Amino acid sequence: MSWEDTIAQAAEVVHRARYVVALTGAGLSVESGIPPFRGPGGLWTKYGEPPLNGFQRFLADPKKAWEERLNPSGPMRELWETLVRAQPNPGHYGLVELERLGVLRCTITQNVDNLHRRAGSELLAEIHGNATLVRCLSCVRRMPMEAVDLSQLPPTCPECGGLLKSDTVSFGEPIPPDVLRRCQEETARADCMLVVGTSATVYPAAGFPLDVHQRGGALVEINPYETELTPYCTVTVRAPAGEALPKIVEAVRLLRGR
Ligand code: APR
Repeated sequence: MSWEDTIAQAAEVVHRARYVVALTGAGLSVESGIPPFRGPGGLWTKYGEPPLNGFQRFLADPKKAWEERLNPSGPMRELWETLVRAQPNPGHYGLVELERLGVLRCTITQNVDNLHRRAGSELLAEIHGNATLVRCLSCVRRMPMEAVDLSQLPPTCPECGGLLKSDTVSFGEPIPPDVLRRCQEETARADCMLVVGTSATVYPAAGFPLDVHQRGGALVEINPYETELTPYCTVTVRAPAGEALPKIVEAVRLLRGR
């Protein structure tokens, strides 16, 4: 099937759906200069998967963990430095356009890079948190990092006195209940999921497309490479998200006569 045919087929599936939800991963931000974690150029491919007890290590010594967060080294330093420079790319803006057309009802993102918000996404669930925010481990209140008094480490919540942590969800840390509930509710409503730039290997996020598929919903995968989800997908667009998404959105707009 030609590139044009695949784009047209993806647009048709999205146009016909009643409730479209997107699941995005690190691949969406590759064209913003942020390396993915797995696959070619991936941080974990280069340095190995991180320990799965990051949250337990935070709780064991929050002061040390905060010192490392404020002065990162190794792979995390590389990631933070690219996050600071990164700008949203046409893939992020394509999803904003789809939201503004009233087609995309929610974007569930695994990315902590804040690029969806900066691009203008409003219907957004950041399942792994947001690197620009801090979260209270007791009352789950979130606040911008720059609003937090970091003269004393670890910082505490100005509202309840609880321990504050980067909103970025660490390995071993439960997904905050508010955002997990939102993701589950949106996935349950979806009869079509756009799966963009994710290896679909980290749960619970990787389970959302399978839920949609098991209920007879359609999956549209946008990824230059095959993933474990590919066999379940209605349409697979083997292309970078920054190229494919704007073309799919334009085709959906034409189908909707806009
Ligand atoms: N456009 C679309 N997809 C791309 C692009 C691109 N330009 N470049 C790479 N990809 C794809 C890769 O083929 C891969 O399938 O993006 C995917 C990136 O996969 P991962 O690096 O595993 O990222 P992700 O799936 O988001 O990881 C999930 O793992 O380490 C944790 O918390 C971290 O949120 C992350 C989670």
